[in-house]
Amino acid sequence: MRIARIVGICQNPRMNETRVIQTADDDSKEAVREAAAVLRSGDIAALPTETVYGLAADAFDADAVAKVFAAKERPSFDPLIVHIATRGDLARVAVVPDAIAATVNQLTSAFWPGPLTLVLPRHPDIPDIVTSGLPTIAVRQSAHPVMRAVIRELGRPVAAPSANRFGRISPTSASAVLKELGGRIPLVIDAGACREGLESTIVSIEPREGKKPVLRLHRAGPVTKEMLQPFGKVEKPKADPGSAPQTPGQLPGHYAPSTPLVLMESARDFHPEPGKRYGLLSYRGDGPWVDLHHWDRIETLSPGSGKLAEAAVRLFHCMRTLDEAGLDTIVAEPVSETGLGVAIMDRLRRASTGAPDDHRD
Ligand code: TXA
Ligand code: MG
Repeated sequence: MRIARIVGICQNPRMNETRVIQTADDDSKEAVREAAAVLRSGDIAALPTETVYGLAADAFDADAVAKVFAAKERPSFDPLIVHIATRGDLARVAVVPDAIAATVNQLTSAFWPGPLTLVLPRHPDIPDIVTSGLPTIAVRQSAHPVMRAVIRELGRPVAAPSANRFGRISPTSASAVLKELGGRIPLVIDAGACREGLESTIVSIEPREGKKPVLRLHRAGPVTKEMLQPFGKVEKPKADPGSAPQTPGQLPGHYAPSTPLVLMESARDFHPEPGKRYGLLSYRGDGPWVDLHHWDRIETLSPGSGKLAEAAVRLFHCMRTLDEAGLDTIVAEPVSETGLGVAIMDRLRRASTGAPDDHRD
């Protein structure tokens, strides 16, 4: 039997200790109890989900949620996702209007527990800080057994954005969480690498008289457009110039490494400068991109086989590895924009935008 144990302490001279408790999905009692105790005391903890690691706080405790914003250096206008343990808990955080109740039921039956986040009218008990004052709340039931067990043990939903500093790459392992937040948070539960590797798909629902609803896709993710289409007409969020962004965290410059990343749509666009160090984020690790240049470093998303699911799982890890390789520029090769490829290209485009500082997440 594998016993949850403290495997490390990360100490930053300016900050506090971060405890790391390693656990197995099916033997997590001790880790779950520890994490729930930390959250119950009004503190925060990084927890595994099937998409990326989340930085969790009791969703009903505004002071604890404020600690999440502080640790991430996240601006207060960017609302959090709330995680529930069971579908029955949805009524504690959201009020589902009759006009979309059937669709909510269909979507949650099809995709929960799993990487689909629904934007719904919020319950009045949810503190303003969680939704950045919006009348809606983003909510999902994670498929990760440890995340769900912590919520059950706490007896309350948890607000949990990705466990990275604002504007940086989401963590898909506990070591990536430590690089982002070590010394800033008291606890990381390490349950190994995340199964999906990309953040959840975010959808809101607009009813239509006598027709299937419009499903507004606020963020592409593991639940693809093709998977959503049986339940409604999938459309982009309405562009509303002059108003706040509909999905405030979806600004250009999200998911950015510190090293400039250039997404090359065509190999012909690559004109290296002499003396500069270039790394390649390759899809399959072969083909014209690899032969194009004497790369200082190559990281491959799906070695040999070119599978989008594998590429999704490895994307943030490979971006992080290249970011740590002392390169001048990371060149990313495009992947085909079908299925999961849409979410991968979305993240690559955001990482490559080079947006001004006030647009970085
Ligand atoms: O997979 C995931 O969703 C991960 C794991 C930890 O669950 N979480 C995650 O959270 O990616 P975060 O905070 O990094 O991204 C949440 C996104 C942001 O872009 C935010 O703007 C959007 O959800 N969001 C939150 N509340 C919203 C709302 N009421 N309406 C529209 N967008 C909302
Ligand atoms: Mg995030």
